[in-house]
Amino acid sequence: MKFFVDTADLAEIRDLAATGLLDGVTTNPSLVAKTGRPFLDLVAEICDVVSGPVSAEVAATDFETMLKEGRHLARIAPNVAVKVPLTPAGLKVCRTLANEGTMVNVTLCFSAAQAILAAKAGAAFVSPFVGRLDDIGQTGLNLIAEIVEIYDRYPAFTTEVLVASIRNPTHVTESARLGAHVATMPPAVIRQLFGHPLTDKGLAQFVADWQKTGQNILEQA
Ligand code: E4P
Repeated sequence: MKFFVDTADLAEIRDLAATGLLDGVTTNPSLVAKTGRPFLDLVAEICDVVSGPVSAEVAATDFETMLKEGRHLARIAPNVAVKVPLTPAGLKVCRTLANEGTMVNVTLCFSAAQAILAAKAGAAFVSPFVGRLDDIGQTGLNLIAEIVEIYDRYPAFTTEVLVASIRNPTHVTESARLGAHVATMPPAVIRQLFGHPLTDKGLAQFVADWQKTGQNILEQA
């Protein structure tokens, strides 16, 4: 499973990229707005830090303007994935950009039917939002199971399932069990993945016991 970080915060992206565990980045207009940075410069800088796919979302909602915006974004770097909303116009843009060789991430997917449309439109990624479905009393992970099952039946569908709107580590591990290709997570959730109280307790014990030996590995090397 690939790990993307869902943020437009460059410091966070640099920090997580340094772990060697980061495969890509997703942004959205709300995340970009928080930075106060000019969007195209920001995307260029993120693409310099991370070589994997960097999702940058169009701002318009009509076909012509979305397509122009998407082409501008795609020119920033070869690893830009243009993010378009799951609307008829968005899917038309997706098909056009995909035919031009640009990766497209179709976002705001909330049903299996929508995911089928995204695959037929040639999306590189489809982003089902699990957390927002949970927020309205549904089970977001059920949607991931449905999409993975459907995509698996059609080898011609090459679209990757990019689980979005992740709120906790269980969303990540269950998505992995279901065979989703990518999980995009806020930085805090990526950090939560590392944690286990028994790891902390065990490490403290090992450090304490080692100190009792009075030895130093580097002095013996
Ligand atoms: C996906 O690409 C979106 O940016 C994101 O996952 C939305 O998450 P939210 O529901 O926490 O805003």
